[in-house]
Amino acid sequence: MPIDFHGSTVIAFESRRNKEICALIERYAGKAVSAPTMREVPLEINTQVFDFADRLFDHRIDVVIFLTGVGTRMLAEIIAKKHEPSRFPQSLRATVTVARGPKPVAALRQLDIKPSVIVPEPNTWQDLLAALDNHHSVKGQQVAVQEYGQPNPLLIDGLKQRGADVLPVPVYRWQLPDDLAPVRSAIDCLISGEADYALFTSAIQIDHLFKIAEEDKTADALRKAFKGVCIGAVGPIAAQAVSKHGMTVDFEPDSPHMSHLVRELARRGDDLLDKKRTATGNSINTNQWKRIDMAWPQSVESTDRNCVFLKACRHQPTPYTPIWLMRQAGRYQREYRTVKQTLPFLELCKTPEIAAEISLMTVERLGVDAAIIFSDILLPVEPMGMNLQFVKGKGPVIDNPLCSRRDVDRLAQPDVGELSFVFDALRITRRALRPDIALIGFAGAPFTLASYMIEGGKSAHYLNTKALMHRDPTAWCNLMNRLTDLLIGYLNAQIAAGADAVQLFDSWVGSLCPDDYRRFVLPHVTRLIAGVEKSVPLIHFATGNPALLPLFKQSNPDVIGLDWHVDLAEAWQMLGYDTTVMGNLDPAILHTSTNQIRDAAKVILQKAAGRPGHIFNLGHGILPTTPPQHVAELVDAVHEMSSK
Ligand code: CP3
Repeated sequence: MPIDFHGSTVIAFESRRNKEICALIERYAGKAVSAPTMREVPLEINTQVFDFADRLFDHRIDVVIFLTGVGTRMLAEIIAKKHEPSRFPQSLRATVTVARGPKPVAALRQLDIKPSVIVPEPNTWQDLLAALDNHHSVKGQQVAVQEYGQPNPLLIDGLKQRGADVLPVPVYRWQLPDDLAPVRSAIDCLISGEADYALFTSAIQIDHLFKIAEEDKTADALRKAFKGVCIGAVGPIAAQAVSKHGMTVDFEPDSPHMSHLVRELARRGDDLLDKKRTATGNSINTNQWKRIDMAWPQSVESTDRNCVFLKACRHQPTPYTPIWLMRQAGRYQREYRTVKQTLPFLELCKTPEIAAEISLMTVERLGVDAAIIFSDILLPVEPMGMNLQFVKGKGPVIDNPLCSRRDVDRLAQPDVGELSFVFDALRITRRALRPDIALIGFAGAPFTLASYMIEGGKSAHYLNTKALMHRDPTAWCNLMNRLTDLLIGYLNAQIAAGADAVQLFDSWVGSLCPDDYRRFVLPHVTRLIAGVEKSVPLIHFATGNPALLPLFKQSNPDVIGLDWHVDLAEAWQMLGYDTTVMGNLDPAILHTSTNQIRDAAKVILQKAAGRPGHIFNLGHGILPTTPPQHVAELVDAVHEMSSK
């Protein structure tokens, strides 16, 4: 999957850095069309700036917020018209300076000022307020805000709510460019259906575009034309502006940089464009849609899903090694974190439309060969009677853990219907997911679930679990039986709802020695696997104890997931090459560099030696601190290096 626009027409509405963005587009073989939509005009008569300067020099300003690089520079220039140039930076040094992002940071550096607070990405006004909340209280303080274009009333209100006395300092305003011919010709290009991508790098660009189109009476035709064009926005503010004009952004990069926008679109654009045009052809209103609104044409949907991932599961030869990543959806993604702000994690899992959207978003961004349903292994313990919570920084917590045989006996024997939100999420996801991408359902294995139910959370030594197991084997067996019964029904219902494969996560079973595994776990896992519908492959994954691998094989899964502690070549040889294996890059490698990731992936592929029956994955879940670009890098590297 090379990073390539394949000669597609890409319209960039960026103004000041239009040459730069066109060069980027051309670097990835796109046909760049530049349509600058605005220019920044300094306010000629600017009493507010001079009033600000007077107050600053009199030490009557406590905090100065710089929102843009251009504005910071213009502000210094305007003040220097009336005052000694060194006075402005000198006075700033005595105040708290806040830079909204890398551009004002750079402009302040030119004035030899290190900002007191730097707002993290994606540098929205919400991020700015959050950064202030973390670093500096503005209560009772005089706060000056360098404004650009239009004022942002939400930011001003947020500052006032925190007790600040706010002084807006407008520096420049936006105007339409002198020459409107390039924008008009871009509008023609869009309406005539010649354009493939439209890139917005600020909110004002789309406002101006529609202002011109409205004057020319082409706004409706333009909006309609966008149904066949992949729309990219550099960040959340530009994306909001696009939706204000009645359209949905198809792609927003993980970091709000022009270069990321262009590169990531060159990487995933083919897929996005094909999806959008197929949907439009299928009468879906792609001006305003979500990923879950997608429906592939009947003819495609009904074909047997003989995709690369499923072929590998069935040990058949594949054109390249399929890859997906455990915990591929999660906190390392900007888009996930944004969704997470709207609802607590458990509620996300219980809202099928949102859960489906997250799974689909992840596949769309990464280009992996399988989606995994967005859910958690612990959901089934709730209807059994456990109080489950996810506590920030701690993970899952159960405040009524099982302590005795009586507790086990009191557990409810729930109907899987109580987990119907999972099945709904699977149905919605399967309908919207590309037909050649597999959908994985999953469940926690009985031991791992029992360990959470007994310990009340993650544990270092599983002492309570092991104590119950040895002290009261009957109670243990009873618990494992109840879990096994529930999980058989749960996985079969997931398959009925559209899961193309299912995975059992026995994340913590590695804490057992082989004898205990054989006695206390193996019979239950064997019964579980035997009870699951055979039409789809079942993946067994566990971590932490290579000595258990031969026992996992005895339970008869279709695929064995290897954790990163084992050597893939040795483990595969030991299990036998007729076994299908999945794994097993150390997730920590994703924190290194692109080259190191490539090299490490290559080593794993060499160990697998191109034999049929290898699915690439990490040896455990992605860590929340992983840079998202590195994950994409790994996916591309595996596809490319394994292509036959
Ligand atoms: O793409 C995906 O894989 C998403 C679906 C998924 C989640 N959890 C979502 C999740 C899957 C397959 C799981 C499995 C899971 N959950 C396992 C087995 C895999 C493994 O890592 O061993 C386990 C042990 C759990 C239990 C669990 N859930 C823990 C220990 C935690 C906290 C750890 C953490 O990363 O915070 C969770 C929470 C959880 N599950 C999150 C997600 C996206 C993070 C929730 C958040 O946003 O804070």
